[in-house]
Amino acid sequence: MILVTGGAGFIGANFVLDWLAAGGEPVVNLDKLTYAGNLENLASIADDGRHVFVRGDICDRALLDRLLAEHKPRAIIHFAAESHVDRSIHAPAEFMRTNVEGTFTLLEAARAFWGALEGEAKQNFRFLHVSTDEVYGSLAPDDAPFTEQHPHQPNSPYSASKAASDHLVRAWHHTYGLPVVTTNCSNNYGAFQFPEKLIPLMLANALAGKPLPIYGDGLNVRDWLYVTDHCAAIRAVLARGTPGETYNVGGWNEMTNLEIVHLLCDLLDELRPDAAGSYRRLITYVKDRPGHDRRYAIDARKIERELGWRPAETFATGIRKTVAWTLENQAWVRHVQSGEYRQWVTKNYAERT
Ligand code: NAD
Ligand code: TYD
Repeated sequence: MILVTGGAGFIGANFVLDWLAAGGEPVVNLDKLTYAGNLENLASIADDGRHVFVRGDICDRALLDRLLAEHKPRAIIHFAAESHVDRSIHAPAEFMRTNVEGTFTLLEAARAFWGALEGEAKQNFRFLHVSTDEVYGSLAPDDAPFTEQHPHQPNSPYSASKAASDHLVRAWHHTYGLPVVTTNCSNNYGAFQFPEKLIPLMLANALAGKPLPIYGDGLNVRDWLYVTDHCAAIRAVLARGTPGETYNVGGWNEMTNLEIVHLLCDLLDELRPDAAGSYRRLITYVKDRPGHDRRYAIDARKIERELGWRPAETFATGIRKTVAWTLENQAWVRHVQSGEYRQWVTKNYAERT
């Protein structure tokens, strides 16, 4: 058994689906089902006895103790987090609660559980912390990409809360010997991504004939990785990573936001042409995000050298799959949009016009 937290969200759901498809052992999936958690992501395994879904909060220590005692997982894969930078700017408190206090509570529960294990079970246990490249801060255009040695220099409430969680995880290894591994990954894209992040938001807006809001000058750079490649990296780190180590995960694919949006418009022009003309006509420049990090780039050589992981998808192949998935799953997009998402969009964009 493995325990996954946040497995109804974008990356966690992809991980659980891939894990079970690859014949992995059963999964206990603990998720609070915040606005970002969506059981529709897991509809294809609704009748699969290897998946046990538990609605609950990682801040609930009694629940964590109960789940660990009952299922005795050999590993915890920790995805659960508040994950959207813009939301963290509007309302940071929940980020501190889930990302910092939640990770602390999970570490303490894991420490108590692991401490009582013996022999091989104790030796083989792993706590895998899923983190982000945003903890490293922002790069200038000519700076070398982030390595694992780069200092944590977070700039947003989201990245500060994730950096804090990384530090807790590190300390629980150093002080208590808890066998932790941490991954710091760049921007993901793919199926089931909530349409508040750049790529699914642009696709949803374009298909609805709405403006495509580019923050600032659109020249901020991100490294983009297809989500199933991230899931494969996590499996590699879980299987072969060294306790106490961190591994950067990236797609070797730096692009500006404008390049991404142009490409999405071109793909939609090809796959779902609009009689009104190219989707590029919808591009609109809006007020920049406060403290907007200019550039992220990941040096992913360590995970390749030590664990043999490299992304399987190029951006060209991954983004084509993502656009095709979006076109084939408009019902999923509609369901998400009819929920709390609508209020969020109003709040976020009303202030930028
Ligand atoms: P997401 O927002 O789509 O999903 C987060 C999930 O966690 C949701 O299902 C939500 O219901 C759940 N959750 C939130 N608070 C919880 C709580 N207190 N208790 C239990 N469950 C809770 O996020 P995502 O994009 O899938 O990201 C997953 C992880 O990967 C996060 O830790 C994030 O920091 C990290 N990450 C994300 C990216 C990216 O591009 N999306 C890149 C690198 C790292
Ligand atoms: P986002 O998907 O929120 O991820 P992150 O902030 O974690 O990198 O944003 C990716 C980039 O796209 C970021 O530079 C902000 C920009 N962006 C826009 O220009 N317009 C938008 O509507 C959104 C959501 C993001």
